[in-house]
Amino acid sequence: MSIIFHQVSREFHLYNDSISYIIKILPNDQLGQLYFGKRIHDREDFGYLLEFANRPMTSVLQDYGFSMEHVRQEYPAYGTTDFRLPALEILQENGSRLTNFTYESHRIFAGKPGLKGLPATYAEREEEADTLEITLKDRLLNMTLVLLYTIFAGESAVARSARFENHGEAPVYVTRAMSLSVDLPDCDYDWIQFSGAWSRERQVKTRRLEQGIQAVSSARGHSSHNHNPFIVLKRPGADEFQGEVMGFSLVYSGNFLAQAEVDTYNVTRVMLGINPFAFTWKLESGEDFQTPEAVMAYSQEGLNGMSQVFHRLYRTRLARGVWRDRVRPVLLNNWEATYFDFNEEKLVNIARAAKEDGVELFVLDDGWFGERSSDSSGLGDWYANLDRLPGGIRGLSEKVEALGLKFGLWVELEMVNPDSELYREHPDWALETPGRTPSQGRNQLVLDFSRKEVVDHIYGMIARILSESRVSYIKWDMNRSITECYSKAFPADRQGEIFHRYILGVYSLYERLIENFPEILFESCASGGARFDAGMLFYAPQCWTSDDSDAVERIKIQYGTSFGYPVVSMGAHVSAVPNHQLCRYTPLETRGNVAYFGAFGYELDLQKLQEDERAVVRQQIAFMKEYREVIQFGTFYRLRSPFEHNIAAWMVVSDDKKTAVVGYYKILNDVNCEFRRLRLKGLDPDMRYGVGDSDGWFYGDELMESGLVTTDASAGQPAFGEFCTDFWSRIYVLKAFC
Ligand code: DGJ
Repeated sequence: MSIIFHQVSREFHLYNDSISYIIKILPNDQLGQLYFGKRIHDREDFGYLLEFANRPMTSVLQDYGFSMEHVRQEYPAYGTTDFRLPALEILQENGSRLTNFTYESHRIFAGKPGLKGLPATYAEREEEADTLEITLKDRLLNMTLVLLYTIFAGESAVARSARFENHGEAPVYVTRAMSLSVDLPDCDYDWIQFSGAWSRERQVKTRRLEQGIQAVSSARGHSSHNHNPFIVLKRPGADEFQGEVMGFSLVYSGNFLAQAEVDTYNVTRVMLGINPFAFTWKLESGEDFQTPEAVMAYSQEGLNGMSQVFHRLYRTRLARGVWRDRVRPVLLNNWEATYFDFNEEKLVNIARAAKEDGVELFVLDDGWFGERSSDSSGLGDWYANLDRLPGGIRGLSEKVEALGLKFGLWVELEMVNPDSELYREHPDWALETPGRTPSQGRNQLVLDFSRKEVVDHIYGMIARILSESRVSYIKWDMNRSITECYSKAFPADRQGEIFHRYILGVYSLYERLIENFPEILFESCASGGARFDAGMLFYAPQCWTSDDSDAVERIKIQYGTSFGYPVVSMGAHVSAVPNHQLCRYTPLETRGNVAYFGAFGYELDLQKLQEDERAVVRQQIAFMKEYREVIQFGTFYRLRSPFEHNIAAWMVVSDDKKTAVVGYYKILNDVNCEFRRLRLKGLDPDMRYGVGDSDGWFYGDELMESGLVTTDASAGQPAFGEFCTDFWSRIYVLKAFC
């Protein structure tokens, strides 16, 4: 891995064994983009990749005789011959928005710096990454722009961010500050986005890139159920296993924009960053503004190759803390078991049954605090409701631990119900616009986390509970989008900062809790998957993937989520039937077979199951304990898409390739069907594998080339022996003979 600066050609070449990224200082001293892709040889001068043409209708830079419109750039500005949407925009005292940031200096160093107050990938040792810091200057404004690029030694990924510093006398307003902008030389790509809604998050949507702008974004104050801050460009011929793919992921949890603009010469400008809509950041003299980080990954091994880059990087160098490398406890959460209808005795009974079946962590969800008997009151009052829990959280957590379980707790620290002690005492602590009626979502308002005193107060309340009780896990929920975004603590010309300041406040609270309670496992949640983003993984190594716990829907949701996020980060639970979101009955086996591929748990009262079902649960938990190391930390492959087929499949392979677990899911049953095979991936071609309990063995190459025979009972007559049903599934465990 290296970063080279060629003095004469004024080019930077960032490379490792698999990728190259090449930047050129242009004749006008702005930055040009020459190449991003598979590793190529280094040479003194890649200048031939910079093409100029005297096109009709072109405006040219007077001193240089060329147009920025026709140059591929690194961090473009609008207004001086480039007409595409820019990476930055700065409103100045005189009303101008023009900027001219030109190369001033650079630094190349080993390792990777952190971003103050923001989540970011990291290097544990200096040899793991090299960083290029390019400083550009706008002399008229006396402003500095610092672009950071880190290339990781072992990963086909580059992490980027930008920092603006105002050294001038007058304040300026940053109205657009992307984390990443890259101009690609053509537009021969399919664009993939991960979109949906509550309970159907991250559905895979693919379309051909076309001239014009295609974008996904959020203006909800969180990354959202609707769109994910992660997009993919793939060559039309690329698929899950081969072909050129690029992924762009924003390490941020607030409003975002992910966009590709294809110009009329088919150049594709990809951008990722804070949504410029509803964003203005005032920079006083001497102040700076740091953008969030964005990560771009490259693969020639198709979509799986790209996903595996994000899986490794985010699992090992974004997630932090003691839980990063630990298998996750099998948990039982009481939400779908009781909703708000519980008392201590009921909870202890549920926990006892869970312990009997092998569960390791009991999680108490919503309803334990203040006057919280429904979702219309209590949020903000983070002390136990003693009518329900006479011994408080301390008493309950001790009882749960006495059963031999760890204890976990749900919180929603960013919110307040108008019907709460907190709101009655501090009505000005909610985000609301003066003179406007604040909208409510789930009967709640959003606390003004841009204010330190609000965050401090909430920290004090929750830290007290955590200090005096035996809490090993926190589920951190967030159940509404932000409206009427306005902080009474900031002046008029800083209101455009509040969305971002809010999420910085959330990050700061997380940071403080992690620092002071390092053994706690955090699971983020936002009405299920409305904040499943890379930013959150820095604080909480797992996230409740969706409120939809139906096994069939979950196949799609987990499949879509796996494009950008590791398996271990996906909270996945077995719930009751009929399913509470869509009333579907699915076999208990299938519910387990889907939930295994994540941070596994249960979302039901096991006492309500029949004895034979309890036996299945016991087997499931034993299975998960035996294979979770492989499932949660192995290499994950998507094999067949539920968005395209009635049969979906995925698998994980251990690092030593000696163990693999395949999940195979047939949504609707079929009759007298074809013989079936599934070509596996990632095995050692020369190893001999046994499959499940069956006799015999297969070489890895057989399983990968001719395929695992998966023909099921529906190929025969149902009356004889085994039969399939709708929503049928199977797990195949492959073990190599040593
Ligand atoms: C939304 C979450 O996604 C659910 O799992 C549950 O925790 C509820 N909130 C509780 O209010």
